[in-house]
Amino acid sequence: MNKTIAVTGAAGYVGSILVGRLLDAGYRVKAVDRFFFGLNTLGRYLDHPGLELKTIDIRDVTPRDLEDCWAVIDLAALSNDPSAELDPALTWEINEKGRIDLARSARSAGVERYVFSGSCSVYGAGGRADLSEDSALRPLTAYARAAATAEEAIRGMNRPGFATVALRNATMFGLSPRMRFDLVVNVMTLSAFETGQIVVTGGGQQRRPLVHVQDAARAFICALEACDRGIGGQVFNIGLANFRMNELSEVVSKAIPAPVQVQFTPGGADKRDYSVKFDRAREALGFSASVGIAEGVIEIYRALMANQVERGLITKTVAWYSHIIQMQRLWNFGLEARSLAGSKVEPDPSLAARQVAIAAAVSKNSSGGQAARTAAALIGIIGMIGGVEPDPSEEYFGLAERIPRLAGALEATLAGVI
Ligand SMILES: NC(=O)c1ccc[n+]([C@@H]2O[C@H](COP(=O)([O-])OP(=O)(O)OC[C@H]3O[C@@H](n4cnc5c(N)ncnc54)[C@H](O)[C@@H]3O)[C@@H](O)[C@H]2O)c1
Repeated sequence: MNKTIAVTGAAGYVGSILVGRLLDAGYRVKAVDRFFFGLNTLGRYLDHPGLELKTIDIRDVTPRDLEDCWAVIDLAALSNDPSAELDPALTWEINEKGRIDLARSARSAGVERYVFSGSCSVYGAGGRADLSEDSALRPLTAYARAAATAEEAIRGMNRPGFATVALRNATMFGLSPRMRFDLVVNVMTLSAFETGQIVVTGGGQQRRPLVHVQDAARAFICALEACDRGIGGQVFNIGLANFRMNELSEVVSKAIPAPVQVQFTPGGADKRDYSVKFDRAREALGFSASVGIAEGVIEIYRALMANQVERGLITKTVAWYSHIIQMQRLWNFGLEARSLAGSKVEPDPSLAARQVAIAAAVSKNSSGGQAARTAAALIGIIGMIGGVEPDPSEEYFGLAERIPRLAGALEATLAGVI
């Protein structure tokens, strides 16, 4: 029988590529995810006989869920600094405690190999060039602190029969079915496409390692397969090369087949500045990244030109998480109003109009455009206008999946009410 690998965060930016690669390599995959960004990112693999979907929060996973798994690749997390800062307590619960508990469950379940997706963010403001895996960590944010602590705890669980390995990934770039336009190369490319400009904040001298998302996915498989070569308990930097942001903007602008203006501004919240070495991964895992920045830029630019890539709110990770938190608040508000009014309440135009105003105010900062605002308004009034029964057991982020459907189903009703 083929070996089963549980991939948490399987439908995310790197997960949606890794799952395809694992299935193509003959593994069975258990995709463990809350699917905050939807299921469709798994695309043509959704019907693959080797793929099992498991919609669950990693905080609720028990050893039983992993009993049939040979290995776990742990990707699920609030995946960048600003998303993690939205709610530092939740970040700790998911990115640190949730991930450590998951590894414990895997160990109890008899899983043999465990690969943890960490981040070079743990180096923080490194201040020196070419940090190795043994250099001091200076995590600057809740996200980086959680990554550092979880990585250390999980590496410490390495035992004969339970090999744990951690990868410190560089910032990724390139095209993925779950597109992220909050990663530096992708953002620069989108900005050049939409405005003909790239804005570099923080002066441009900051250094950062980068890696193409396809290379990163390949690195996970290299680490998984190298576990029987005595690498348990180790950590590896995964990247292509280090760039200063001003150099990077030049590479990106040159790769784009249209005039691009680069502007530098002094501010910028991101204080990360480090460059790292990648030789340990080359020597022990046999892994070298091969896809260059220009290739990644061109593939994204072409997909944008052909209108083949999503670039709405869902691709801006922190904005999307804020947006679905707002949706949740509106949903609760609607449920509360409905229960106060009694479930058989007649549609009330003035109440609905007030809800729409609130929804618009809540969502006006969410750059989601008219569709998102309409959906927010519709969800806000759903408890009052009748016709569609709200489900109190609706899962927190299941709303993300329902938004387009709700918008379509209720637009006509809304038009009739206000
Ligand atoms: N993309 C990068 O540049 C980068 C760089 C370094 C490290 N990493 C790390 O790699 C991993 C994957 O990153 P990504 O870019 O694919 O992120 P992503 O945001 O695209 O994907 C994360 C996935 O995890 C799921 N998820 C989040 N919280 C969950 C929970 N509590 N329970 C179940 N599922 C949950 C989400 O639904 C999503 O599908 C993360 O751990 C991230 O920190 C990514």
